[in-house]
Amino acid sequence: MIDMHCHILPGVDDGVKTPEEAEQSLLLFKKNGIDKIIFTPHMNHPSVKTKYEEIIKSFENIKPLAEKTGIDVFLGSELYLTPDYSKYIPILDRFVMIELPTAIYPIYFLDTLFNIELDGYEIILAHAERYKWLYENRSLQKKLKDMNVYFQINTEGTDTAEGKYYIENDYVEFISSDFHGFNKRKEIDFSKYITYENIQKKMSKILGI
Ligand SMILES: [Fe+2]
Repeated sequence: MIDMHCHILPGVDDGVKTPEEAEQSLLLFKKNGIDKIIFTPHMNHPSVKTKYEEIIKSFENIKPLAEKTGIDVFLGSELYLTPDYSKYIPILDRFVMIELPTAIYPIYFLDTLFNIELDGYEIILAHAERYKWLYENRSLQKKLKDMNVYFQINTEGTDTAEGKYYIENDYVEFISSDFHGFNKRKEIDFSKYITYENIQKKMSKILGI
């Protein structure tokens, strides 16, 4: 199975801090049936500052260790979308995963989104269940789906009203942990990957891994 949204790449953002913690995290995922992981460190985040060069270096360092645990690892990013975004790391050279302010609709959203699509990338909206303004706007949900925007839901997000609504409407293509390390947030409920096996299948098909 696949996890395509996590902060396991050590020492680059507000996620996992050390290579040892990264190894422990990878072993935990492996034990629970995840054998493909896409690291998605924050980029352009207003409060979590990250550097492209450090991300690349950390990935090169951790790759051999990850391979030893029997997990295929890939590098992407979680781009905090602003009108002046610059650098991001597309997932598998095809997908750009974006996050947005949760409380207020960002007026630049559709324009910026469209620009990334014009650059030739497909869009994945990270933890779609978190955006109040999206949940309350059905025509926007429809518009995003017409623009072929994929929705990713966090494992714990499947228990929220928003997550359930998106799943019921067949709006969800990705389910992942958004794991930030052992000191952050609650434990990952790995049973969700099994419960939503159909979403896992969609993920694998869309990503081609
Ligand atoms: Fe994240």
